[in-house]
Amino acid sequence: MKKIVILLALMLMGATQIHADEGMWLPSEILKKIKDIQSQGFKLSAEDIYSVNQSSLKDAVVRFGSGCTGELISSEGLLITNHHCGYGQIQSHSSVEHDYLKDGFWAMSRAEELPNPGLTVSFLEYMTDVTDEVLKGYKKNMTEEKRIALVEKNSRKIEEKAIKGNANLQAFVKPIYYGNQYFLFVYKVYTDVRLVGAPPSSIGKFGGDTDNWMWPRHTGDFSLFRVYAGADNEPAAYSEKNVPFRPKKFFKVNAKGIKEGDFTMVYGFPGRTNEYLFSEAVKYTALTSNPHKIALRTLRLNIQREEMNKDQAVRIKYASKNASVSNAWKKWQGEAKGILRMKAIENKQAFEAQFDQWAEGKPEYEQVVERFKELYASIEELSLVNDYQVEALNAVELIAFAGRGQANAEKFYKDYYMPIDKASFIALYKAYDKNIADKFKSPYFKEQLQKYGSMENWADSLFTETPNLAMAEEIYQETNAWFKAHIAPTLLSVNKEITLLYRTYMRGMMEYNEATGGGKIFYPDANSTLRVTYGQVKGYKPADAIYYTPVSSLDGVIEKDNPEIYDYNIPQKLRDLHAAKDYGRWEVDGSVPVAFIATNHTSGGNSGSPVLDADGNLIGVNFDRVWEGTMSDVVYDPEICRNIALDIRFALFIIDKLAGAKHLLDEIEVVQ
Ligand code: ARG
Ligand code: ASP
Repeated sequence: MKKIVILLALMLMGATQIHADEGMWLPSEILKKIKDIQSQGFKLSAEDIYSVNQSSLKDAVVRFGSGCTGELISSEGLLITNHHCGYGQIQSHSSVEHDYLKDGFWAMSRAEELPNPGLTVSFLEYMTDVTDEVLKGYKKNMTEEKRIALVEKNSRKIEEKAIKGNANLQAFVKPIYYGNQYFLFVYKVYTDVRLVGAPPSSIGKFGGDTDNWMWPRHTGDFSLFRVYAGADNEPAAYSEKNVPFRPKKFFKVNAKGIKEGDFTMVYGFPGRTNEYLFSEAVKYTALTSNPHKIALRTLRLNIQREEMNKDQAVRIKYASKNASVSNAWKKWQGEAKGILRMKAIENKQAFEAQFDQWAEGKPEYEQVVERFKELYASIEELSLVNDYQVEALNAVELIAFAGRGQANAEKFYKDYYMPIDKASFIALYKAYDKNIADKFKSPYFKEQLQKYGSMENWADSLFTETPNLAMAEEIYQETNAWFKAHIAPTLLSVNKEITLLYRTYMRGMMEYNEATGGGKIFYPDANSTLRVTYGQVKGYKPADAIYYTPVSSLDGVIEKDNPEIYDYNIPQKLRDLHAAKDYGRWEVDGSVPVAFIATNHTSGGNSGSPVLDADGNLIGVNFDRVWEGTMSDVVYDPEICRNIALDIRFALFIIDKLAGAKHLLDEIEVVQ
């Protein structure tokens, strides 16, 4: 009897609990999860993760620029992030005479470290729940417009109060759970951040777009910077007199290594996830939006690739553009596949049916499911028009440039190649003509097309020897004005209603979970705020009869090495080190570990995040996810979703043996 009861309890738990590895947790709320984190092997406390009274792990994690994460790894302000996060800075210091992208860069003394105007590094001072203050003055039945205005006004007041005129601080009030709760985040922002080191792209971007979003991976995706401060250790504008920043906390490096099953924690700034979407939205993403956007980008990528293969100069011009067009293109494919494979649409529909049943007789919730269906149906076509506005009409470089008022003209023309843009215009505008219903098409577009008779003729008038900027600007203004006047208003107002409905739905899901004994602990969607996620080093099965083991090594780099293929052509020195097995203290089983995968729930923005072991020491630097698991921004599958991290020992090996930058190694505290 007793046995049966226990078994039943276990079964129930299994059916209702979310998987341990899913979730991006707010550090200040980590107490809710600490028991589970510790039960998975973590040896520190909640206070060690986040504290406002003592130094904690959070003090070593920074927001790097606006889209990445970085972490401090020495008492003298040394910072590590991804190569692809420092790419812009590395590029900006490069020229034909010293091409740091191609050859790498290593400052051999502090004096050689290179300043980067505009680059910031932000430390979170504290975060706190300010829901009551944000909603002060709110009355039930207030219109959404009034509520938005109130939230705005109160938020600005809270932010001002938080920074008290201190120019080194930044404060942001942000909603979580669709505005059911609000948090204040206060950052200290350092602006003197210097480039210290970067491997050649043939290591830092090894595998290029072919290996991007994929496992097995062999990319040495890291770069080094140093944070500088005034004599008082506070932020200061760049000055030769500035001194290396002394952080409250920096990570020691664990060089003892990792193995399958080991505990891991990722601490960083994921950008945007949508884990609580209604089924219709997931369906739109997987079946309509992603396929159309993928098709449009395929057109551009094919055109770019063809021209890049013909001419080395064109290849350089379009390297970075091509990488960014390709990055989302590849992710959307994995995401759509993953959503379908997981049957996420059907599963959501089944949940919604249950929710709807439960909601019966509860005035707050009983209309929610029905209303979602109506609202999503009412904007399905318009959403596609929106996708085409962004990914087709405005994706022509010349038209976007003219639309921006020709800002940064020098930079624009430096990386511009008209034959690519012209062919893209023809292909993209034809796709718009074909796939957008006539009634939603801009009348200007239709008139022009009729006037010129064909897209090719129209293109001949636009892409003249010196590009016809007046025409480009007219196209931009006309099609966007039409969009703004006839498409956007409905989209905006319905989307506002949808957001409002999500606020109710979110509360409903929480109540439902409570009422049905679900035992699920919710986590807020990523919103570029600091989060903790934890899991373990673990392989996965991408397809039938294949199992991927979780650690890659230098031997794999050598297997992929190919002097004929740009993205796989490693520096000769790395070949030599391998041939001589000159690995020093970084050798493991006759090779050097390069990257590993784990079950941490990460997203875009987590690039550069520290991957920590059970003692809070650094074992890796996060940089990507596996392709089969890229739907994790919408639905997480513990069987398949994996983050990809650089093994910190590969970075140390490169710094030590390839760069010979012993002075940097000396700064880093290695636990071996
Ligand atoms: N997939 C990585 C993340 O989404 C970006 C890697 C950048 N490299 C590239 N080959 N595009 O940002
Ligand atoms: N590569 C991404 C980044 O740059 C990380 C990810 O999407 O997993 O943030």
